[in-house]
Amino acid sequence: MASSYQPLIAPSILSADFARLGDEIARIPAADWIHVDVMDGHFVPNLTIGAPVAKAIGKVTDKPMDCHLMIEDPLRWAGDYADAGAYNVTFHVEATDDPRAVADLLHSKGCKAGISIKPNTPVEPYLDLLEHIDLVLVMSVEPGFGGQSFMPDMLDKVRTLRAEIDRRGLDVVIQIDGGIDARTIGESAAAGCDVFVAGSAVYGAPDPDAMIETLREGALTGRAG
Ligand code: DX5
Ligand code: ZN
Repeated sequence: MASSYQPLIAPSILSADFARLGDEIARIPAADWIHVDVMDGHFVPNLTIGAPVAKAIGKVTDKPMDCHLMIEDPLRWAGDYADAGAYNVTFHVEATDDPRAVADLLHSKGCKAGISIKPNTPVEPYLDLLEHIDLVLVMSVEPGFGGQSFMPDMLDKVRTLRAEIDRRGLDVVIQIDGGIDARTIGESAAAGCDVFVAGSAVYGAPDPDAMIETLREGALTGRAG
């Protein structure tokens, strides 16, 4: 099992220079996915970018675009991100009464669908959704801002998910987002994460692309135990 583990590093452009997004993405050829944080100023107390900018980003990279929607009413808006060229669209379960409908909408557009849970949201009520989604994003900070400290208690949710996904033999990836750096990525990988979002760790590094490789090594080492 351990030898087939291929951690994916998804730098968050939230920590990039928004005036130079194309150049900032070109600086990270080692990235596996490009993580795009969409905030609406309602679901979270911050406002970032929307579908037109996501579409522009999709045009300047061949890498899978991973849109993290921190917005209200994802059933109304998620399809726009699939149409913008996203590989995966993740929405928050706290923002919708019908996560299954949002996932089905994304799948109907040929896009992968992820659910995300905030730090105070338990994972158990959502385990029934695992058959209908492709990804679970466990937030390891309160969503809204980059540069916050990692919350290690969130790894209990990762362990629960890892056990359940493996027990059912599902093809669902576990992503973690918030405070991931060279120090915290190892324990996250050991807990069972597959995809690691890192904003300030990557774009705050003198060499962002080298940091991606450092993070990848950290994940591999952490999973190997
Ligand atoms: C926070 C965003 C994250 C953020 C992570 O709400 O979802 O993707 O960019 O930033 P760091 O890695 O700095 O915690
Ligand atoms: Zn994010």
